[in-house]
Amino acid sequence: MVLLGVNVDHVATIRQARRTYEPDPVWAAAEAELGGADIITIHLRMDRRHISDRDVRVLRQTVAVELNLEMSLADEIVLIALATGPDMVTLVPENREEVTTEGGLDVVGQSERVGQAIRRFDDAGIPVSLFIDPVEAQIRRSAELGATFVELHTGTYANAHYADERQKRLAELEAGTGVGREAGLTVNAGHGLTYRNVGPVVRRLEPHELHIGHSIVSRAVFVGIREAVRQMKEAIDRAQTLP
Ligand code: PXP
Repeated sequence: MVLLGVNVDHVATIRQARRTYEPDPVWAAAEAELGGADIITIHLRMDRRHISDRDVRVLRQTVAVELNLEMSLADEIVLIALATGPDMVTLVPENREEVTTEGGLDVVGQSERVGQAIRRFDDAGIPVSLFIDPVEAQIRRSAELGATFVELHTGTYANAHYADERQKRLAELEAGTGVGREAGLTVNAGHGLTYRNVGPVVRRLEPHELHIGHSIVSRAVFVGIREAVRQMKEAIDRAQTLP
């Protein structure tokens, strides 16, 4: 069974557009759970553009499924994560001007910092996932540094306009999944996934978890979060049961 992590950052983005109290990502998380979410994912960014420190605190107290905190390696955020105790953390690169997380974390180039962070979370009993591109060297180094999971960046697959490029990106993700499993990692995937493009990822990668945000929250505008999550679960299950 592929687990679904629902990213509720986008609900907080709407709240922050008016700097008010609604819509509350805490309500969104509860609705997502009722729709079948296995994991609630939030990203506490340095600039606090969507999720706030209060959201992290309240969600830690209210989320009944697993809570996954996405974060950069910034010391301030690492300290908040250690004090909060999410069920897992996902380390991502973070650039101030980006609209969303752009590329994977450069684990090879930042081995020392990443390894240090993994050890701190290890000591606190919090498993670490590294959000990386499906590049063999990045995957192998993630395993060497003691990560529990890698989340393979599906953005280039999701953004591919033509079928042949999509197939190429899918093959890279599939190969990366094989390398990760062989190295002892649990392999997850996410970014840019939608109701339309999730099927091949499920079938070819058979990931442990998928992390999906924008597409679910977009559909939720029309059908509500509970139903949007239920439909994504259905799309994933359908892909798994196809002959
Ligand atoms: N996984 C990671 C590591 C992310 O940073 C994001 C975006 O916050 C997602 C998954 C979800 O991406 P999307 O919103 O495109 O589904």
